[in-house]
Amino acid sequence: MIPTNEKCFRLMEKYQMLDNIKAHSLVVANVAHLLARSLLNVGISISLEKVIAGALLHDIGKTPSLKSGNDHSEIGRQICLDNNLEEIADIVGEHVRLKNYDLNGGYSAKEIVFYSDKRVNHDGIVSLEDRLAYILERYGRNNLERCRAIKTNFERCREVEKKLFGKLDFSADRLAELAGDEIVEIRG
Ligand SMILES: [Fe+2]
Repeated sequence: MIPTNEKCFRLMEKYQMLDNIKAHSLVVANVAHLLARSLLNVGISISLEKVIAGALLHDIGKTPSLKSGNDHSEIGRQICLDNNLEEIADIVGEHVRLKNYDLNGGYSAKEIVFYSDKRVNHDGIVSLEDRLAYILERYGRNNLERCRAIKTNFERCREVEKKLFGKLDFSADRLAELAGDEIVEIRG
């Protein structure tokens, strides 16, 4: 099942999503909505409902992960399965690191959510470079191995960026300017 926006907000309450994570998720959903809508406009088939639900719930495992210390994307994937949301479980489970990614294949909701999350720091839209700098500082903690893994993941993200914007009629650096107008549509 793909949850409605309303159901997503109920799940945020149920799993005690913190206000700052909620604010982050709304901005990610706006970015994802703009990208998905624009892909649809150029004739690419993509489920808008799936993209929005995946974006709203991508960090649903965050609060439980603070208690257990386990990977929040895997916890989130499990939460989706527990709530019969199989359609978005992989989007949530792969929002940190994409698996089974095909650069030359079709466009998927999980690529869009993965990329959108990398363009939003807290609740602000930033470049991939700025988000990478923040992640390296917060999660790399000067550990060479961890920093290398983070950089590799961002390389993949740059590939996704190229793939997405290869089809879109605006460039990646206009995302902040354009995504601001999406808010009304998601909430309405
Ligand atoms: Fe996350």
